[in-house]
Amino acid sequence: MAIPASGNGKVGPCPFGKCDGSGWILGDDDLAYQCECLEPRLARARGAGINSVIPARYRGVSFDRPPITGIDSVVVNAIRDWVDDLDGNLAAGRGVWLMGDTGTGKTSLAMLVSKEILKRGRTAAIYSLPKLLGRIRSTYDNDPGDESYADFFERLCEVDMLHLEDLGTEKRTEWVLEQLYALINERYERQKSVMVTTNFDQAELEEQLGDRIVSRLVEICGDPLPLYGTDHRMQVRPPGQ
Ligand SMILES: Nc1ncnc2c1ncn2[C@@H]1O[C@H](COP(=O)(O)OP(=O)(O)OP(=O)(O)O)[C@@H](O)[C@H]1O
Ligand SMILES: [Mg+2]
Ligand SMILES: [Zn+2]
Repeated sequence: MAIPASGNGKVGPCPFGKCDGSGWILGDDDLAYQCECLEPRLARARGAGINSVIPARYRGVSFDRPPITGIDSVVVNAIRDWVDDLDGNLAAGRGVWLMGDTGTGKTSLAMLVSKEILKRGRTAAIYSLPKLLGRIRSTYDNDPGDESYADFFERLCEVDMLHLEDLGTEKRTEWVLEQLYALINERYERQKSVMVTTNFDQAELEEQLGDRIVSRLVEICGDPLPLYGTDHRMQVRPPGQ
């Protein structure tokens, strides 16, 4: 599949001057509404073969609203600093690593970073590990003329940020570890940013994925940002239900 000359996955300012460049407009009721530029943006992203869509639940994430305002301020400030120097961090290939208990805001913070990246007209590929591996697999049995494995892999290597959700939960096979290593190593060598969220600590991840993958992640992301504590998903429901 050919990449259209202007369709290299980059998003820019809203062509209609209506949204902040994310394709979403936040209403007075705090709900996010689609801007008319969203569909063409999504079509371009699909054309580029990578997923850059912020899932509906996280579209409204912002530093000045819950749940971000309720998350450990040390971690939130570290994310704020990262976003403040977004271009510098992407240029240096610095990443973000959020680890900790379930329901503590890791994905919310990571989506906030990806949203800021897209808003600035930079590119992000957003995947859960199982989804990404499924997508890679699907390039194997493509019809002639469809995007090849090599093309897709190259896009994953070139995108400004590779955002991987729930590292370590995927079923571990030789093939999975090989794919993950190839991708992380290639981005490491090209000095490209990676962002991961995971429920596992560093030692557990080493056990799951091997030292080679984890040591590259450490060098790309620096120390993991820890978020431990109560599962806020449980708190949304009344007790006993
Ligand atoms: N500190 C918090 N205060 C209030 N609500 C929160 C907080 N952290 C997370 N939430 C809410 O909890 C839910 C889960 O958040 P999120 O998906 O970011 O968690 P997570 O850490 O990625 O969880 P998991 O490890 O299961 O993927 C969301 O509805 C989010 O709005
Ligand atoms: Mg999560
Ligand atoms: Zn718009």
